[in-house]
Amino acid sequence: MRPSLLPAGAWREAASSGLMGRVKTRILTKAEIERLVTMEHAVSAVEGAFRAHGAGEALMPAKVYLDLPRYRGDFRAMPTYLEGSAGVKWVNSHPENPERHGLPAVMGVFVLSDPDTAVPLAVMDFTYLTAVRTGAAGAVASKHLARDGAKSLGFVGCGVQARFLLDAHRAVLPGLDLKMADVEPERARRFAAEAGGDAVSIEEACACDIVCTATPSRGPVVERAWVRRGAHVNAMGADAPGKQELDPALLDDGVVVIDEAHQAQSSGEINVPLGQRTLDREHIRGTLGEVLVGSKPGRLSDDEITIFDSTGLAIQDLALARIVYELAREQGIGTELDLVSP
Ligand SMILES: NC(=O)c1ccc[n+]([C@@H]2O[C@H](COP(=O)([O-])OP(=O)(O)OC[C@H]3O[C@@H](n4cnc5c(N)ncnc54)[C@H](O)[C@@H]3O)[C@@H](O)[C@H]2O)c1
Repeated sequence: MRPSLLPAGAWREAASSGLMGRVKTRILTKAEIERLVTMEHAVSAVEGAFRAHGAGEALMPAKVYLDLPRYRGDFRAMPTYLEGSAGVKWVNSHPENPERHGLPAVMGVFVLSDPDTAVPLAVMDFTYLTAVRTGAAGAVASKHLARDGAKSLGFVGCGVQARFLLDAHRAVLPGLDLKMADVEPERARRFAAEAGGDAVSIEEACACDIVCTATPSRGPVVERAWVRRGAHVNAMGADAPGKQELDPALLDDGVVVIDEAHQAQSSGEINVPLGQRTLDREHIRGTLGEVLVGSKPGRLSDDEITIFDSTGLAIQDLALARIVYELAREQGIGTELDLVSP
């Protein structure tokens, strides 16, 4: 019997009489998750989530921020519902953590729930999966917005996200020539050596058919003149107010596909130019989900510059969490606990 079907107060009686179903919650660590999920899984789950979003089938209340300046950090809660699954990511940003405590600056945990019974099905590490889902979103955007026959992939910013963006692009658009650039050239050289690409100037990386920017920049890094007509740009770095990576003239000369209107306006690549009134809303074509379901057009010509403005959505997280949970159940990975059993 489902606990949620019992009248108030009846659970104690049901539990003692053995009527109450046992509730198991699967705990999954980062190491277990890394073994379970492949980039192919991630891209297909994230693509499905964007489609559901475009079709109006997802529920995604605005991210809640809990600012704690006295601890020099903040927490964010990202709740969402998608086709029979519900969940919330609880993630922080404590930039001084590595120096002050020898801990990562960002740590994420996801709680996956059955929306019918409310049973917490799983609690899992979500630091690694946040990077995976971000890479996957960039690759889904490139798959649907880049020009047919794109041959080269440039990276501006060669940190953690760039590596996941590369893996995800390899899963959907294999065989691209790789160009890596970073404000710290040694980082570009290291990434190029790891991945089999060339370390180049930022200008050269921006001349690729597909360009991924993944920097924490708060001012334009990519100049309009460096990007060729027909290119596709994944602007991944701007995910908080005041962040910006692209010359506003590039947005003016291109079309922007956002991930979600509220987040993009408040914290995505368009947040600064919209605030400064230098971006005409006419350039915002729609959301990636709308493009995927065909309610808004994607690329209209080989000449167009398309820009995907990614802020990172809760539906991407949930899509990955539930596939990880299913794989873990199938393969018997993780630890089952009576976390909430009566
Ligand atoms: N869109 C999303 O869903 C999403 C998800 C996660 C992270 N992010 C954002 O992506 C950005 C990158 O994250 P990360 O984890 O890869 O960071 P990281 O610190 O691992 O890497 C950032 C890289 O950018 C380089 N860089 C900094 N300023 C630069 C500049 N002006 N020009 C060129 N290179 C520059 C750094 O040297 C570094 O190599 C951050 O702003 C992060 O908040 C976005």
